[in-house]
Amino acid sequence: MSDPLTSPEARLFHPSNEFAAAAHVGSLDAYHKLHQRSLDDPEGFWGEVAAELTWSKPWDRVLNADNAPFFKWFEGGRTNITVNCLDRHIEAGQGDKTAILWEGEPGDTRELTYAELLQEVCRFANVLKGLGVGKGDSVAIYLPMIPELAVAVLACARIGAVHSVIFAGFSAESVRDRVLDASSKCVITADGSWRRGKELLLKNIVDDGVEGCDCVEQVLVIQRHLAKEPFAHNWTKGRDHWFHEEVARVSDECPAEDMDAEDMLFLLYTSGSTGKPKGIMHTVGGYMVYTYLTTKLTFDLKPNDVYWCTADIGWITGHSYIVYGPMANAATQVMYEGAPNFPDEARFWDIVEKYHVSIFYTAPTAIRAFMKWGDAFPQKHDLSSLRLLGTVGEPINPEAWMWYHRVIGGERCPIVDTWWQTETGGHMITSLPGAVPAKPGSATLPFPGVDAAVIDESGEEVERGLLAIRKPWPGMLRGIWGDEERFVNTYWCKWGGKYYFPGDGAIRDEDGYIWVTGRVDDVVNVSGHRIGTAELESVCVAHPAVAESAVIGVPHEIKGQGLVAFVIIRTGAEGEESSWRTELMAMVDEKIGKFARPEKIVFSVDLPKTRSGKIMRRLLRDIAEDRPLGNVTTLADPSIVEQIKVKYQERA
Ligand code: WT7
Repeated sequence: MSDPLTSPEARLFHPSNEFAAAAHVGSLDAYHKLHQRSLDDPEGFWGEVAAELTWSKPWDRVLNADNAPFFKWFEGGRTNITVNCLDRHIEAGQGDKTAILWEGEPGDTRELTYAELLQEVCRFANVLKGLGVGKGDSVAIYLPMIPELAVAVLACARIGAVHSVIFAGFSAESVRDRVLDASSKCVITADGSWRRGKELLLKNIVDDGVEGCDCVEQVLVIQRHLAKEPFAHNWTKGRDHWFHEEVARVSDECPAEDMDAEDMLFLLYTSGSTGKPKGIMHTVGGYMVYTYLTTKLTFDLKPNDVYWCTADIGWITGHSYIVYGPMANAATQVMYEGAPNFPDEARFWDIVEKYHVSIFYTAPTAIRAFMKWGDAFPQKHDLSSLRLLGTVGEPINPEAWMWYHRVIGGERCPIVDTWWQTETGGHMITSLPGAVPAKPGSATLPFPGVDAAVIDESGEEVERGLLAIRKPWPGMLRGIWGDEERFVNTYWCKWGGKYYFPGDGAIRDEDGYIWVTGRVDDVVNVSGHRIGTAELESVCVAHPAVAESAVIGVPHEIKGQGLVAFVIIRTGAEGEESSWRTELMAMVDEKIGKFARPEKIVFSVDLPKTRSGKIMRRLLRDIAEDRPLGNVTTLADPSIVEQIKVKYQERA
């Protein structure tokens, strides 16, 4: 990343007058007033936003901060999020409005109006009820990006079941870890899916994953295959059910379960600095209000927009900005199943042109891949329907920003760079596109209601330091499933329990713009996906020949960051480096998923350790980034780093 404090360039990109004039928030002054008001009177501010939505019983108190960090929002309020995402729009006469324009990778399409979507959700909810799933039950969802994924999520919310969506790129073992941790009673999957033209047999992965999991009573299988014959699969009688058979027997009406604002809506697992993923807990009321407002203001969403977020619902971006936020705003959106380069590298631009997409939200890693594939692919297509672009998941390098602005946005579309996390539920630092001029590489200013600051360990504001959120916000996580202590220690201990610690470093420039520089903990952001170095280390040490391992993140041209594993082989272990490397890669696929494969595995005789045995990852990073080695005098054996350096460069 370029350094905003020393960079002579201070490029400011203002929205056009036309964009600003029509925007929900149309000037910097209006943004500052809104932000100031939201901090001066958070309860008044959030109470007004919440009042735009439907509640079966109003809240008694907007924010209860008596027992921090166990905050409660809209205490006493009752609602169902699906009523706000579906029924509310139909009652307002928008039943015929298109909700989802779906395209499968092979080119098959489906369109659902809000009225049809409600029907599908109710039928799905009735199928779940028929299988014995009810309020408070945990349901794991392992599906490709087909409409049923959104429907399944909403169906759980409809009946008050807690969904735990597992990204369909995770391996069977990852499915198992998550299913067991959440004690999921039902798992929803599909026979298969397509990725780059290849079949992905999801049901078989689920079979391996749930084998021996006593908690799992039902596996509900959606038939995705286009031909009459389903994808190849196993079948466990009594446990497995075809969705299409079950749904034929149910009614298309299902009353929405009346939920407390603080009832759990979902769990979503994410990586932290230990080997065990964290089940991040989100609740109904605050999350609903937060995703509703952030979608509306960050994307300046209007009734006629065609919105497309390219994320997978398996990650938080898809939860907040495909399912709940857009639907709470009655948006029309595109949903796509497959890869951006199938059948060729113009697939996304073909979709933008075909559906007249006006708002496009993607990740820097995708932008860098498009850049590499070349301008010719987007230039073959009419992208003039676009009016706003967004990015999410990692810092965007200014070069990629400029390319996005020029080639995709035709130099006319504002770009919102949205900083947030699984834990925050929704956007935290982002420009409001009609109000806040952009600087390439900066997420700019905090969203209304968000008190973001760059501070040092003692809590003093500094130019360069740690990002902190100093006030609660409605979309905040409510805990880590089953691990209250980890919740408090990870997020609320750094500044004596006063502020939220996201784990990112940041810079604040003279205009108050925030530049997020990346994680300061042992989490690596690979293509916008969080992977804990400890997770990969524990995979490596599970190999019988491996004595020890240290994993680091290194800069990667397309992925943002890649992983490098340094591995020490046990003395006397049988085998050779090339076969250990192949075996270790296969173990990563098996234990986490292909997306967590390291770029490099470097075998060495030892790791750089201090005399007390602590591994100095900083030196490994110096080696990987070909920097002069930092201080090695504290090492037990300083010659080790030179040996590792040679080994590392051999693998270049
Ligand atoms: C981490 C959160 C937010 C949904 C997708 C990832 C990094 C995210 C940005 C951005 C700089 C960003 C942070 C954060 N990150 N967005 N716009 N600029 N960094 O969610 O898996 O929970 O990861 O992604 O490091 O902590 P996640």
